[in-house]
Amino acid sequence: MKIFDVYPINNINITKGIGSNVWDDQGVQYLDMYGGHAVISIGHTHPHYVQRLQDQLHKIGFYSNSIQIPLQQELATKLGKISGKEDFQLFLCNSGAEANENALKLASFYTGRKKIIAFSKAFHGRTSLAVACTDNPSIIAPVNETDNVIFLPFNDADALAQCFQEQGDTIAAVIIEGIQGVGGIHIATDDFLRQIRALCTQYGAVYIADSIQCGYGRSGKFFSHDFAGVDADIYSMAKGMGNGFPIGGIIIAPHIAPKYSMLGTTFGGNHLACAAALAVVEVMKDENLMSNASEIGDYLMQELKKIPLLQNVRGRGLMIGFDVPDTHKDLKKRLLSNKKIFTGEAKPNVIRLLPSLALTKSEADVFLTATREEVRN
Ligand SMILES: Cc1ncc(COP(=O)(O)O)c(C=O)c1O
Repeated sequence: MKIFDVYPINNINITKGIGSNVWDDQGVQYLDMYGGHAVISIGHTHPHYVQRLQDQLHKIGFYSNSIQIPLQQELATKLGKISGKEDFQLFLCNSGAEANENALKLASFYTGRKKIIAFSKAFHGRTSLAVACTDNPSIIAPVNETDNVIFLPFNDADALAQCFQEQGDTIAAVIIEGIQGVGGIHIATDDFLRQIRALCTQYGAVYIADSIQCGYGRSGKFFSHDFAGVDADIYSMAKGMGNGFPIGGIIIAPHIAPKYSMLGTTFGGNHLACAAALAVVEVMKDENLMSNASEIGDYLMQELKKIPLLQNVRGRGLMIGFDVPDTHKDLKKRLLSNKKIFTGEAKPNVIRLLPSLALTKSEADVFLTATREEVRN
């Protein structure tokens, strides 16, 4: 049997990782400024993470949601504390798309409505409703096409106000990334998020903060939407949540009440996944990783802005993007082949940095020196 060939891959076999560094099967070391696509939040093979997973595996790895799993409550309590959303409710699943799918479904159950507002360049995942809310027709299968999703221009206050005025009583939810990731690192303005909050409250719609890439401390705050100073009704999370162990979740405001069977999953919230997520939250707190993300992120952006060739350096914390001119559009490839540094990208010609939140200043300096050298050549 062959692997279904859907990923354009680099010809590299990574076999080891420690912190923000990984090694291939030839022993070559790479600096990971990509975090395995924003997933590695506390660093590869963090000792506390490895120990907690190992200990759990020796006790029990999985049992279904038909029994008590106190690890879920322990996670909910710690997540409430670190995110500041202590009165919210946690539902656990397995991936980002699934988190958004559940958020959207819950919004529709809650409001009894069908319409969803999403924005230009949004990416919300590949399951049916999440992909329908994604602004990329090439990944929407005919069966996922629907009239229920309204796309509006990102950060356009007038368009949003007009849409609510015309059809506010049919809107179940507004879904928005605090910082668009796949779309190329674009920040939702604080004013725009506050307007979403106000209109959702006025019209009885649900504000869904897709925090799958921009959340979990990456921006320097637990949710990047928090910069606007207002709460969403549902936050979706995945990526950094398990530092590589597949886990996702939504946290839900207290006014949205649960009913038996309205949501459910076989694997979501299993013992091993909870142990991984607990280890992440514990390390984030003990090692002050949100402040580190903020500090190292500011430093990286300040230094990147000094490189004349790089344009529109932008982001928050350790979610950073910049544009490279056409003449240097192979910068990502050159950093990988010449300097052994992994970075992310977005179309067209955007470099995306999504490293571990534990990235050190000296690792940031390695990246900066390499980038300066590659744009000079
Ligand atoms: C903002 C956002 N939402 C949702 C998803 C989907 O997450 P997953 O790939 O875990 O399904 C992603 C993944 O890149 C994302 O960046």
